[in-house]
Amino acid sequence: MDCRGNRKLTVAENVRLQDSIHRHDFPGIIMSLPILEMFRRRARNRRKKTRCRKFSGIRNSICATSGKEPNRRSIWRQGSISTLPAAIIDLGCGPGNSTRVLRERWPAAHITGLDSSTAMIEKARQTSDAIDWRIGDIQIWYEPNRFDLIFANASLHWIENHESLTKRLLEAVKPSGIFAFQMPALYNQPVAQAIHDVSESPAWKSHPLSDRYTLRTHTPGEYYDWLAPLSKQLQIWETVYFHELANHEAIVDFYSSTGLKPYLEGLPSAELKNEFKTSVLEAFCNLFPTRRNGKVLFPFRRIFLIAVR
Ligand SMILES: C[S@@+](CC[C@H](N)C(=O)[O-])C[C@H]1O[C@@H](n2cnc3c(N)ncnc32)[C@H](O)[C@@H]1O
Repeated sequence: MDCRGNRKLTVAENVRLQDSIHRHDFPGIIMSLPILEMFRRRARNRRKKTRCRKFSGIRNSICATSGKEPNRRSIWRQGSISTLPAAIIDLGCGPGNSTRVLRERWPAAHITGLDSSTAMIEKARQTSDAIDWRIGDIQIWYEPNRFDLIFANASLHWIENHESLTKRLLEAVKPSGIFAFQMPALYNQPVAQAIHDVSESPAWKSHPLSDRYTLRTHTPGEYYDWLAPLSKQLQIWETVYFHELANHEAIVDFYSSTGLKPYLEGLPSAELKNEFKTSVLEAFCNLFPTRRNGKVLFPFRRIFLIAVR
């Protein structure tokens, strides 16, 4: 019941009501109401849960390794995929976190975890012997028509030539198989741009750092142009994760092992590295305001793509 004593509408009733308003009265306006989208999503999710469980794990796997996923139409509900994946490869598997999520989701599949780092594969090996761990370089890896699912979480942005790379990876899945990746959306990442700007500033111009800003993630439109001609279905989306951090130093720490790392590696001494971190910290203070409770919201945008060959 609401505050006037009326019975609250169920989610399905709300969707029907909003649909009828939309159809008859306010096309466009009602459709854009976020609340309607929310009701739609809930109803859709319920239908999804009961109707199709087969491939839903791909999105969940991405979600499980990178945070909460956005709700969008699932391409595997649209008809072309009807079997469970028998052969899966996790490219750039690192210590195996993402690979183990795939293992849990598809216990019967043959799963390979591939990474170029021997140390990562050694770590991964200690966590599971139910996965075929391999040392290898994605840049030259090619096993055409072998996999039902090629999965790459947070690994491809370290690699160059994305047009040929992503086309090759899609061609490596079997017909009707899936190629799925997630990467930081570096083309629209304020934190990455801020570091680049610092490296170009007069104080740091004498160090050859700006070349280290390797923008290897491309825009959704570019991936679309490359992969749409090769895909039966293609789904691309972005999600911005607002990480709640204690202060701006925590952003520097957060980014030190990823986007800041190549810059720090380009500086010859610990002193210079610390100075560079201080300059970056100042830039972050200007970029991300301190919230009322003293914490900082650090926005991090990620791009997701799922292609059905
Ligand atoms: C951020 S980790 C992601 C690990 C894992 N996918 C996850 O989601 O937890 C990126 C991994 O990609 C690997 N990597 C980077 N370039 C690679 C390449 N050319 N070939 C294979 N692996 C690579 C790195 O060694 C690292 O382990």
